[in-house]
Amino acid sequence: MTRKLMKVVLVDDDADMRAATAQWLELAGYRVETYADAPSALARLDTTLEGVVVSDVRMPKMDGMAFLARLNALDPDLPVVLITAHGDVQMAVKAMRQGAYDFIEKPFEPDELLEIIQRASEKRCLVLENRDLRSRLNGSADIERRLIGDCPAIRRLRSELLDIAETDAPVLIQGETGTGKEVVAHCLHDYGLRKTGRFVPVNCGAIPENMVESELFGHERGAFTGADRRRIGRFEYAEGGTMFLDEIGTMPLPLQVKLLRALQEREIVRIGSNEPLPIDIRLVSATNRQLLDECAAGRFREDLFYRINVVELRVPPLRERGGDILLLFDYFVSRAATTYQRPVVSLKSTAANLLMTHKWPGNVRELKNIAERFVLSSLSADERLPAILGSFCPSQPATGASSLQELLRQHEHLLLEQALTRHRGDVQAVMEELDLPRRTFNEKMSRYNLDRKDYF
Ligand SMILES: Nc1ncnc2c1ncn2[C@@H]1O[C@H](COP(=O)(O)OP(=O)(O)OP(=O)(O)O)[C@@H](O)[C@H]1O
Ligand SMILES: [Mg+2]
Repeated sequence: MTRKLMKVVLVDDDADMRAATAQWLELAGYRVETYADAPSALARLDTTLEGVVVSDVRMPKMDGMAFLARLNALDPDLPVVLITAHGDVQMAVKAMRQGAYDFIEKPFEPDELLEIIQRASEKRCLVLENRDLRSRLNGSADIERRLIGDCPAIRRLRSELLDIAETDAPVLIQGETGTGKEVVAHCLHDYGLRKTGRFVPVNCGAIPENMVESELFGHERGAFTGADRRRIGRFEYAEGGTMFLDEIGTMPLPLQVKLLRALQEREIVRIGSNEPLPIDIRLVSATNRQLLDECAAGRFREDLFYRINVVELRVPPLRERGGDILLLFDYFVSRAATTYQRPVVSLKSTAANLLMTHKWPGNVRELKNIAERFVLSSLSADERLPAILGSFCPSQPATGASSLQELLRQHEHLLLEQALTRHRGDVQAVMEELDLPRRTFNEKMSRYNLDRKDYF
């Protein structure tokens, strides 16, 4: 990658300005993509941009500051240069605080802008080269786009996942409904040794009880009434690949015995046959129940539990993921906007608050649905989210907290987490942004049991 191939995404509502700047940049050897407004640029941008963004601040539809926040959420390593009005020092300081790479005051000399863009491009080159290197090493850049999230728990989950993907150890994925267990299971397969084999999901909860055994192990012709021909089961079908037993907590006890035997012996027997067949699969299971409680209640076999749970991955509920709520919302909104060809509407801070304090019983799936409804809604930007969330959660204060004090505490906790995430654990930057003296900051960090190292 060389500077000559770098791209400049130029956003300015002033057509003359756009054309003139684009011309200088092209003469200087950049590829230039121009947009008259930020939402249309957002619809096209993603984390792979081999270039930098230059944007005017004062624009209709979405201003440069809101655009900057969206770009930061999309890719915090994307350099954004803002064009501010002459003498607007406050705006310039604010832009830098919120993560702009640099700013330039109007009117400016072409050379001044070129110099900034050159530095920004060099930085971008380094970031992309590093990402390439990392992705070649372990696929991590790619997984960040599949299992999205920047909170410490999700970053930890991604690195644990990559650590164990290339082993054959059975994995149990635990997490509430809609948290992303299936996404994790797919990643385990795709980054594993068996990625060229099949990924075979079996939803133990959705198959009628009398069919599960035949579904898993297959049957011979005539094994039972209606078995008019031989059928191979999922175990055989998954040979050489990964078998994903979803909702394993719902598996009937007699079948648990058979599954345990198959896993111990590494062989299965089709119903109606006597001949054992060797199996070679990687087993990944998932559950939204507490399996140890199920064991204690006699509904799940403890020996099977230990057999399928050699490694456990826990996918945290959305309400524990702090800033990821807005990150994922932005992601799903821009995806839906592209799919349905609708404009991206920016969130007001009050609406962001609504998202942050919602309980999210349906986790990421619920958030994704809400983001889609948000994009498709015909209400005004301010009315959309209250209307949609109201219909998802009609009663109850969203967090389940009862007192005002507790709500404020929770909100303060979230704001701190978000700021730490944004500044990647840079305490000085967080204190500045939130205008907190060091002592107060330290008190709050220890009150909420936060550790800056978790955000590096
Ligand atoms: N971290 C994530 N990044 C991007 N998309 C996600 C993430 N987590 C979940 N999703 C999306 O949210 C939806 C629900 O995820 P998934 O089906 O994996 O949840 P689950 O835990 O298996 O839910 P259930 O227990 O109900 O089966 C899917 O559309 C998935 O693509
Ligand atoms: Mg699932």
